Order: sequence, then structure tokens, then C-alpha cells
Amino acid sequence: MRQGQRRIPAAVVNGTGYGGVELLRFLAHHPFFELIEVTARSEAGKTVTSVFPSLGTMDLTFTAEVERSELVFVALPDQAATILVPELLADGRRVVDLSAGFRLHDPSLYPRWYGYEHPAAVLLEEAIYGLAEWARSQLPAARLVACPGCYPTAALLALAPALTAGLVLPDVIVDAKSGLSGAGRKLSIDMHYSEANEDTSAYGIGGHRHSPEIHQELAGRAPVEEPLRLTFTPHLVPMTRGILATCYATLAPGVSAETVNETYRQAYGDALFVRLCSSPPHTKWTLGSNLCFIYPVVEAESRRLIVVSALDNLIKGASGQAIQCANLMYGLAEDLGLPREGVYP
Ligand SMILES: NC(=O)c1ccc[n+]([C@@H]2O[C@H](COP(=O)([O-])OP(=O)(O)OC[C@H]3O[C@@H](n4cnc5c(N)ncnc54)[C@H](OP(=O)(O)O)[C@@H]3O)[C@@H](O)[C@H]2O)c1
Repeated sequence: MRQGQRRIPAAVVNGTGYGGVELLRFLAHHPFFELIEVTARSEAGKTVTSVFPSLGTMDLTFTAEVERSELVFVALPDQAATILVPELLADGRRVVDLSAGFRLHDPSLYPRWYGYEHPAAVLLEEAIYGLAEWARSQLPAARLVACPGCYPTAALLALAPALTAGLVLPDVIVDAKSGLSGAGRKLSIDMHYSEANEDTSAYGIGGHRHSPEIHQELAGRAPVEEPLRLTFTPHLVPMTRGILATCYATLAPGVSAETVNETYRQAYGDALFVRLCSSPPHTKWTLGSNLCFIYPVVEAESRRLIVVSALDNLIKGASGQAIQCANLMYGLAEDLGLPREGVYP
């Protein structure tokens, strides 16, 4: 930051969920965004550190509303976000939304996949889908950024290079595993220790809410007229954080392993947070960082491309990507205030 340059006053709404708490942790030391407000419904009036001792010395109290911030990170459930975000924008603020409330371009998908009519459909045309590595040029002008979901981030970073370059047929399978924090901090039976520990299962087969989002973003990239076919199967695994996505697609005729490797090198060779790796990635490699590891392999016998990706759902899949997008909105280095090294073990 240049000397004398104004820091941008920033808020987190709400700071009591998993995504919100991670935003607080990163924004506490951001050199350009000054965290001045954090809201809560349940904990309004309490100090942040009395609720989250892990946040150490943060000198903020949860308030009911945003009043002074120019930039607002919204970490609410999607339907609550669809109501609040238009108000924030009308007040002249810029918004980075972590929810699904503004990710889908087609408003008719909301009743079907989310169970409500979208109350601010006109903003769906304006919102920039914030898959940071693929949206860099659009972010500086954005007023509203819709950050991708955690599964979509893993699937799209894995498959976007191949589909964009026409290396695979538009028929893809995404088999993904998530830790329990992907469901947020609210309680539900499936998330009880005694239900989830030492258990693994698929869920949402043929009907998970992230399917239309992944479909929208992959179909928009494929250079062929043929409609994209997508099968997405998520699984819950007994770990706190992490997403591992194994993606499959059939190679287009004549595409070699060398072409695949070169395409991925061109897509991510200079990326600060996407690392191409030479062995299958582990979710443990990503813990606590904004990194996404990508491992593309051609299976010669089946002529399939298999791409494995791994990320921390609460960081590259949520709060970290949100800050990466905000950095790009303000013309900053995209890694400002973000961890490029993980926690190990
Ligand atoms: N968890 C992930 O891995 C992940 C990844 C990508 C995107 N996301 C998305 O990011 C958003 C936040 O996710 P999260 O995991 O942080 O969820 P969470 O842990 O369940 O937290 C949700 C937050 O919203 C508040 N809240 C809940 N219901 C509300 C309502 N009806 N009106 C106003 N506030 C309400 C809660 O706090 P109060 O009770 O204090 O209001 C809490 O701060 C969600 O839209 C989620 O889909 C999550």
C-alpha cells in the first residue's frame, strides 16, 4: 500500500458462522481492508473474543447491522443474503457474497433448487461469478461478487482448462468428498459426532444444489454446441475441513497427454493459489491455506481425463476466495492477506 493511501473500511455479515469467522481471521491483518464492523444475530452486543477466543486480541463487538463500511463480506444463508445484499448495494457499498444467493444467472432455477422465488432477480445479471482465477478481468468493475460454492470451486478449477480448450467431450462426472464444516455451524442430526464419525456416505445424488451451479459454469466454457451432461455426486467424510473432487471426462479425438499437461500448465502455471501436482493431492495439504491442488492425468486405455483437486472448503472454497476476489476488485495483489502455506499435520 502506498503511504497515505486510505484503507477501505470493511464489514463481515455475520461473523458467527464458519465462513464468517475465517473472514475475521484473515481481515484482522489485511493491509488494505480495515475490518471495522462485524454483525451477528445470536451474539449481538458481545465482544468477538468472548465468543471466539481463537481470535485472540481482536477488538470488535458484534453489532446488529452494517453502518459505516464500504466493502461488505456477506456470509449468511443464501435466502437471507438475497434480502440483505440489495439493501447494502442500494446504500452504495460493494459486496462479496459467500452464499448461493447470486450465483445462478437464471432466476427460474431458484424455486426449483433453493425453494424460493428470487427477490432481486435483476441482480443475477449483474453479479460476477467469483471463481478468482477465471474472473480476474471482470472483478475490478464489480459491485457484487457471488463467490462460488466449495464443491463448485474444486470441480471448476479441475475441469475448466480441459473444457475451455475443447480437450474433452461435454459429458463429465464429478465425484467429490467433503468434511463436515461444509454444512456450516448450525446443528443437524447428520452432523452429530456419533452419526458422522467413522462413517462415509453419498448424498444428494442427482439433486444436489451445486449441480446447476457447476453446470452453468462448465456449459458456459465448452466451445461446442452440444449440451453439457454433468453427474455430480457429493459424499460426506468424517473430517472437519477439506474437499477432494475426482473428475472424469472422455478425451476428444486426437487429444494427447502432452496437450493436456501443456493446457493445464498454461492455465495455472503462474497462478498463486492453484498448484499443479505430480501425485494425487491430499486434503491435508490444503488445511488452513487458500491453495487448491490439481492433478490431471490421462488414462490411456479408457481415453479418459481424470482430474483430482483438493482444497480447504472454508478458505479457497469460501472466505479465502472471497478475499482474493476483493483484492482483485480493488486492483491489489490477489494474495494480499491470504495464507499461501497450510497447517501441517
Ligand atoms: N461452510 C462452507 O464450507 C461454505 C463454503 C462455501 C460457501 N458457503 C456459504 O457461505 C454462507 C455461510 O456459510 P457458513 O458455513 O459460514 O454457515 P454457518 O456456519 O451456518 O453460519 C451462518 C451464519 O448466518 C447467520 N444466520 C443463520 N441464519 C440466519 C438468518 N435466517 N438470517 C440472518 N442470519 C442468519 C448465523 O449467525 P447468527 O445466528 O449470529 O445470525 C451465522 O453467522 C452460506 O451461504 C454457505 O452456503 C459455505
